[in-house]
Amino acid sequence: KKKLPLFGQNMLVTAGPTYEAIDPVRFIGNHSSGKMGFALADELSSLGADVTLIAGPTAQRSIFKSIKRIDVVSAADMLNACLANFDKADACVMCAAVADYTPVTVASQKIKKHVDGLSIELKKTTDILKTLGQQKRTGQLLVGFALETENEEQYAIDKLKKKNLDLIVLNSLNDAGAGFKNDTNKVTLIDRNLHKTTFELKNKTEVARDICLRVIELLKK
Ligand code: C5P
Repeated sequence: KKKLPLFGQNMLVTAGPTYEAIDPVRFIGNHSSGKMGFALADELSSLGADVTLIAGPTAQRSIFKSIKRIDVVSAADMLNACLANFDKADACVMCAAVADYTPVTVASQKIKKHVDGLSIELKKTTDILKTLGQQKRTGQLLVGFALETENEEQYAIDKLKKKNLDLIVLNSLNDAGAGFKNDTNKVTLIDRNLHKTTFELKNKTEVARDICLRVIELLKK
């Protein structure tokens, strides 16, 4: 095990969607399946890393029992779990589709359908990745994801800079077979030097391997 490239390295991974409660029975969520994040956690683990996986609501299961899984529901829960596990992490791969907005108030009882129209007031959630980017120590590696539908590369580079990332994984919804729910993904990796690598459509396990190999390279620098 000592021979494995990530032996002794502590990795933090987020996966899946978050659910933002509206009332006791309803929430705002998204289509993230958690597949990419779980594949990454498994791949990092198979390469010898100690993995903490912070997962939003998902039906996914890890292959490796050694992965420390923390289940969360909301963006606020995920932020707290990330902050509690960030200091010990050598690298963080933030794959979760975190809600950007959450209801200002959560109704204590089920909202009844008395009126024809209903508005729910929303406020911005805290950007977890950006928060970690601000706290990052020298030597700590931060990897983010960007799912875009237009101006893909420019938006990804903007995120890389704004969030102080070392690497960003871009997947475009314009590529068939990429993005959420699919078992396959097609990604472009962009690092801080704006060095760009584009991969073929592959299954998410193979995509996870490509990302891990890049992480190993960057950790060596
Ligand atoms: O800006 P955008 O949400 O598209 O950035 C996506 C990246 O940021 C992903 O890596 C995602 O996990 C992370 N993120 C986060 N906290 C948020 C929103 C996004 O960590 N509140």
